[in-house]
Amino acid sequence: MSCLSFVVSIIFDPTLPSPSIPAKIVPMPPTLTDLIALTRQAGEILRTSFGQILHVDHKGVIDLVSEADHRSEQFLLDHIRQHFTGDGIMAEESGGIAGSGEHAWYIDPLDGTINYVHGLPIYSVSVAYAEKGNLTLGVVYDPMRDECFSAQSGAGAWLNGQPIHPSTSPDLDQALLVTGFPYDIRTNPDNNLDHYAHFALHSQGVRRLGSAALDLCYVACGRFDGFWEIRLNPWDVAAGALIAREAGAIVTNLNGGDDFMSPPQSVLAANAWIHPSMLRQLER
Ligand code: IPD
Ligand code: CA
Ligand code: CA
Repeated sequence: MSCLSFVVSIIFDPTLPSPSIPAKIVPMPPTLTDLIALTRQAGEILRTSFGQILHVDHKGVIDLVSEADHRSEQFLLDHIRQHFTGDGIMAEESGGIAGSGEHAWYIDPLDGTINYVHGLPIYSVSVAYAEKGNLTLGVVYDPMRDECFSAQSGAGAWLNGQPIHPSTSPDLDQALLVTGFPYDIRTNPDNNLDHYAHFALHSQGVRRLGSAALDLCYVACGRFDGFWEIRLNPWDVAAGALIAREAGAIVTNLNGGDDFMSPPQSVLAANAWIHPSMLRQLER
């Protein structure tokens, strides 16, 4: 990241004599190009360690964190703290880091840790940026396929720089769907298995890839017609949801409301025809 990310703005106070005019450094928000470069570098850290034997800790019975998660997150945090000092950061392994309420980063340093630890090459890095509570930039990078999904609010969504759009399949009956399950699946009866069973009987198929960020991006580019999941975290969905919305998908919570970032985060993303059908089935 270059020093171009910062500007020096001079705040003029007409009551002060000119020699005392204070200078204030005002950090510029990152550009989408900044975010893409940063996320790609974190992805490269993951790709380099992929397939190696790593130290793995259990955050829960089936909730893992590996050395690679920590390395990727540390790289992202160091960079953001150095170049975007004062921004708030919500990162999966470090929790929330206080900063200006105006600028916030949402970081999942490795989305798909279970896949990664098993050597299954389906995982991603997810980085989003919000200004005054609105998501403005999002990048999800899949290092194994060198696929970089990105979006800027109001400007569109891209895969490796090419515009992307959701599918146009109109029928749920012929739709390919994807979902995921919460880590408390064994102990909490509200575990999505009922919805999974229902959609398995009312669609062409339901996949479980293991990276919610990629699930959302695959809806964005039409590989899946719809995705839903319950009890996610802001870092799982922030970038992917912006990418799906900017691509033209409908993204809501499972009640059909706009807010998928507040607890308990649930997400339904689908093309404009499938979304209402899925919502009806989820509310049945
Ligand atoms: C998980 C993945 C998975 C989803 C889980 C997430 P993690 O994230 O996105 O697809 O089903 O709910 O927690 O733990 O690999 O970063
Ligand atoms: Ca995640
Ligand atoms: Ca993660």
